[in-house]
Amino acid sequence: MLILGIETSCDETAAAIVENGRVVRSSVVASQEEIHARYAGVVPELASRAHVERITPVLRKALLNAGVAWREIDAVAVGHRPGLIGSLLVGVSAAKAVAWSLGKPLIGVDHVQAHMYAGVLEDPRERSISGMNDPPGDLFPALGFVVSGGHTSLYRLDSWTEIKRLGGTIDDAMGEAFDKAAAILGIPFPGGPNLDRLASSEGSNDRAEELPVSRLGGDSLDFSFSGLKTALLYAARGVPASSNPRAARPQPAPELTPGRVRDLAASFQRAAVKAAIIKIQRALERLGSSAGGVRSLLVGGGVSANSRLRIDLEMLADKRGVRLVIPRMKFCVDNAAMIAGLAYHLGSESSMAGLALQASPSTSLAGANAVHT
Ligand code: KG4
Ligand code: ZN
Repeated sequence: MLILGIETSCDETAAAIVENGRVVRSSVVASQEEIHARYAGVVPELASRAHVERITPVLRKALLNAGVAWREIDAVAVGHRPGLIGSLLVGVSAAKAVAWSLGKPLIGVDHVQAHMYAGVLEDPRERSISGMNDPPGDLFPALGFVVSGGHTSLYRLDSWTEIKRLGGTIDDAMGEAFDKAAAILGIPFPGGPNLDRLASSEGSNDRAEELPVSRLGGDSLDFSFSGLKTALLYAARGVPASSNPRAARPQPAPELTPGRVRDLAASFQRAAVKAAIIKIQRALERLGSSAGGVRSLLVGGGVSANSRLRIDLEMLADKRGVRLVIPRMKFCVDNAAMIAGLAYHLGSESSMAGLALQASPSTSLAGANAVHT
């Protein structure tokens, strides 16, 4: 079964062809990075307009790269929630037009749910990566961790459709915190990947500054990154007198030399990743990771590309005896292959929304309250 996936929830215009829910025949992503870079963030109206311009060539390229003709497509899937509403509408409208003209079913997919699916996608062009193309086997029950620019949430999954939210961020998403930390340190857009690169560069000292690791309550599965962000701001620019009652005068910070920026980036990354790992470990303890407990840890979203997070997750999964299912780098960020892949498992009557499918800014996952951007 060949599914055409379409994704336009934020600033990537993407289309993909996925066979039987796993084999990625093509995946095309047109990034709008150059459009939003000078604003240091995504401008929704510009994003929608760029999607309109790019969606048709991106769709054509996805079919061409897969060597698939329009009539060979069995269903059309689209990320219809959550995201920027103007951006989502472009993808949803395009998906409806294709599905209607081909007379094929239209499947609406939740973008957050799809991020957790990205780790099981197989790329036939990259067989060399060990273990990456192994059959997924029985993954459930699973602990899901979605970590992106708009989301930082934990879920229990009993199947690809039975999902319960366990916790999430009470302030910034982890990717948002990386982007803001990069802005504080003067690291250019896109902040997250550039900060990661700098923090991992030779000579960096991740202990240069002891930044706070948020734990919240003893049994909380929520996350908080705003305290860490403020601590980084003070470490970079000094502590204002108003924030430090014991000091009569503001406390200056050491000069922000390139070396200091690199060390602060590494210290920030260490604290942010540690905060995430603590909560995942807590969730695994709560759900149990031995017989009858969680079998796998499904991680997805832009921040799952972070080098330190990937290493620490591997160590944690190894220690707890659960299988880590984490996407290849190109499927960490927004893409349409994860939409087409997950759609294969949603192909029941209930998910065939037809032309009545609506775009929505919020996720459908139970109890979720953050809007994914
Ligand atoms: O999932 P995604 O492509 O878009 C949504 O938020 O939906 O994730 C983008 C986020 C951005 O905040 C970006 O800075 C972050 O993922 N990101 C990273 C890395 N690569 C992307 N954060 C830390 N380290 C990275 N290597
Ligand atoms: Zn995303």
